Amino acid sequence: MEQHQNQYALVTGATSGIGYELAKQAAEHGYNLVIVARSQDALQSCAKDFLKYGINVIPLAKDLFNPGAALELYNEVKGKGIEINLLINDAGQGQYGLFIETDINRQLEIIQLNIASLTALTYYFLKDMVARNEGRILQVASIASNLPGPLQAVYHATKAYVLSFTEALINELKDTEVIMTALQPGVTDTDFFDKAGAQNSKLVEDPSKMSDPAQVAKDGFEALMAGKDKVVSGFKNKMMVSMSHVTPDSVNAERIRKMSEEQDHDENS
Ligand SMILES: NC(=O)c1ccc[n+]([C@@H]2O[C@H](COP(=O)([O-])OP(=O)(O)OC[C@H]3O[C@@H](n4cnc5c(N)ncnc54)[C@H](OP(=O)(O)O)[C@@H]3O)[C@@H](O)[C@H]2O)c1
Repeated sequence: MEQHQNQYALVTGATSGIGYELAKQAAEHGYNLVIVARSQDALQSCAKDFLKYGINVIPLAKDLFNPGAALELYNEVKGKGIEINLLINDAGQGQYGLFIETDINRQLEIIQLNIASLTALTYYFLKDMVARNEGRILQVASIASNLPGPLQAVYHATKAYVLSFTEALINELKDTEVIMTALQPGVTDTDFFDKAGAQNSKLVEDPSKMSDPAQVAKDGFEALMAGKDKVVSGFKNKMMVSMSHVTPDSVNAERIRKMSEEQDHDENS
């Protein structure tokens, strides 16, 4: 396993789910960590887990719903004299429900988190990476990036942005040594669906059909280290994305709607 001692990885969303597992991957590869999420308590507890790898861990609490948070984060990291060699933009949220029945302020916060903060963090840290001609960025997109998502319309659209943005930047970076990769998980067993108010969606009806966040993170990290442009995690998800390229978007949207609807509850039970 290639080791990255004396290098730093910054992982947003490192306290739970896929981000936690990605931070673990980075720690296993010898990276020191800057871990970011909102909950100070969760950051402290995760820092303890990651310290077991014999690395430095710096927890930084930030709410990336706030428009100024990305620049604050960059400035705090620079203020500590740390160069980020690996940026993992993982923090993201969704909101379940018919668009017009959701809270528009929450949807706009999700756009801020999933799109604007991710873009700003990429901008600040990528400039430094290009100046050094060294560095890697993993953008956590989704299979939702390829599929219109009724009942999670804004979320899917934000993930389409992440994939398009990443693919364009990969082209802009082609004459540099900086690597950028998009990770596209499918439905994964994390706290995401609780936060999104999607606990009753068919998407989460059968946990055995959901991906394991540790496997998703492994797939993403390996793709990044191998310099791949993007990776869809899991065979079933690869099939779904491949099929989406040949079926009309209206058919794709209807399929996602059926998969996302509320679970059928037996009235007699
Ligand atoms: N689960 C899935 O099925 C799935 C599928 C495809 C893609 N993804 C993507 O994977 C990424 C991680 O999601 P997950 O499934 O691992 O969800 P998760 O278990 O809910 O983890 C989300 C992480 O992001 C942090 N976070 C949330 N809101 C934040 C904010 N405003 N500012 C800073 N940090 C924030 C959370 O910590 P705090 O709450 O303490 O801030 C937590 O560490 C997201 O980008 C998601 O879109 C997930």
